[in-house]
Amino acid sequence: MKLATSKQKEEITKQKWIIIGSAHKTMMMMTMSFNTTTTASCSQQLASSQKTSVRGGRANNKLRAQKHAIARQNGRRASSLVVCDGTGKFVVGGNWKCNGTIDSIDKLCASLNSGKITADVEVICAPPMVYIDRVQSKLKAPYQIAAQNCWVSKGGAFTGEVSAEMLKDVNIPWVILGHSERRSLCGETNEFVGLKTKYALDTGVKVVACIGESLAQREAGDTLNVCFAQLKAIVDCVTGKDWENIIIAYEPVWAIGTGKVATPDQAQEVHAGVRKWMNENVSADVASKVRIQYGGSVNAGNCDELATKPDIDGFLVGGASLDGEAFVKICNSAAHSK
Ligand code: PGA
Repeated sequence: MKLATSKQKEEITKQKWIIIGSAHKTMMMMTMSFNTTTTASCSQQLASSQKTSVRGGRANNKLRAQKHAIARQNGRRASSLVVCDGTGKFVVGGNWKCNGTIDSIDKLCASLNSGKITADVEVICAPPMVYIDRVQSKLKAPYQIAAQNCWVSKGGAFTGEVSAEMLKDVNIPWVILGHSERRSLCGETNEFVGLKTKYALDTGVKVVACIGESLAQREAGDTLNVCFAQLKAIVDCVTGKDWENIIIAYEPVWAIGTGKVATPDQAQEVHAGVRKWMNENVSADVASKVRIQYGGSVNAGNCDELATKPDIDGFLVGGASLDGEAFVKICNSAAHSK
């Protein structure tokens, strides 16, 4: 047996990372080919949903009028405190990520339960999977629970994963999918996120689908194109009806966990662009109803101003969701601002 030279060792270490990365991708490719039926029916569904889409022209005014008509028809906004361009309830998510201990999580639940959430705001907390049962048994209404991820298909030999069926089995109504940390750290592609979204929805778990550009993409002027490509991969897999159970979370990667929040105008510009794209590529009805959250360094100090923007229908909050008092204030921001 020949011993490797230090240069060879360095090469091997580099390759290991490449191998880990490509194994992950191969796994995803395999999953995607297992799902060819789903993918095929995804495109058929897309074709039929596009028939109902409204295309071209300056859609915004028309869209706004349609949205208000739909809102009136649904009677959903009539007596509501919150008025935003999405016609659903203001919705705030707390993404606890990979943080907490039994002790800190119990304290957070107690603090959240003692806060008063304004009527007409929906709140979804996403604890780490290992604490999900504990948090579910502690948090009282109106808090709902989300998982931070689930597998792309039926459970089985997928070490470390949790299936949508399992979430359904333990009554977890929501899952966050396509978070930028999973995209960048775990190699999740747009297509993979699209398939995951469809699978979760078909299993009866509602989805917070995250999109957003990196700093380099923003600086290259690609923000909207990146967001549209991420959205298209989801649109290609879901039907018009599925959108009742999807929230879009726009989270610019450069604003996540950095303390560098998008300005209200920067966020509004992308939210309005996303809604317009949904109008042109899905339908006016879906564009009107879909709720678009902003995420990225939202805190108790900046939430009120962000919430004044017409296309911001809620927030997805990371760091500040670990502080009960701050999070309750963020949940109540729509009532102060709209
Ligand atoms: P942040 O994270 O609020 O800590 O920036 C947001 C998120 O990743 O959802």
